[in-house]
Amino acid sequence: MAKFPTSRVDKLLSSMGYGSRREIAQMAKAGGITLDAADLLDVTKRIPITPDLPTRMKIDGEALDPVAGMAILLNKPLGMTCSHKEEGALVYDILPDRWRWRNPAISTIGRLDKQTSGLLVLTDDGDLLHRVISPKRHVKKTYRAKLARPLNGSEADQFASGLLMLEGENKPLAPAELDIISETEVLLSVTEGRYHQVRRMFAATGNHVEELHRESLGGLSLPDGLAPGQWKLLSGEEIASIFQ
Ligand code: URA
Repeated sequence: MAKFPTSRVDKLLSSMGYGSRREIAQMAKAGGITLDAADLLDVTKRIPITPDLPTRMKIDGEALDPVAGMAILLNKPLGMTCSHKEEGALVYDILPDRWRWRNPAISTIGRLDKQTSGLLVLTDDGDLLHRVISPKRHVKKTYRAKLARPLNGSEADQFASGLLMLEGENKPLAPAELDIISETEVLLSVTEGRYHQVRRMFAATGNHVEELHRESLGGLSLPDGLAPGQWKLLSGEEIASIFQ
């Protein structure tokens, strides 16, 4: 049988944002914690942290949240910021409130601008985060962009050249792929994640991005049924598809 790490119940639940250890002890005393349908009263007990714990442990009658090592797919709405600190609406506000206190913390894998919508993955798995953003992996990100002006015809070659330099930078962009949908709408696939990259690429061609939406990350796409502001947990297979 696979060996899983163990943790005291109070430590585990407080690292998942359910409250302080004292609050968790009180919750248990009031019959609010069950494991395999039996009241769990001794929160100093060590239990194995198995991935199926959320199907076996209930807190106030509700399934336990996912244990550490999760990845979330969010259809990011316009107007929300990918930051823990900034003022205004943050993408983290969409997730359950107690997840703010999780340790390890949940972070976005890369960022989308406030005025960019679409596929955003969040995780508490630092290893996964680094694998996705590592320049060595060349994970492809595909964006749908609506442009203020018609294409001039040279963009696909410029972007594919590996020579395009963004303003204020001294290293050219890696080749990127442009699929033209109409003269003012494109799909652009890039393998880097430079600051405001897509908007700056079109600015370098004398155009302006009016709407920007991320459709896919590697082999992972936004499912049709996931409306803006909705999220779902990713399975191991879906996480692996990012690298396909
Ligand atoms: N490029 C941008 O300009 N903005 C984003 O949000 C993502 C890529």
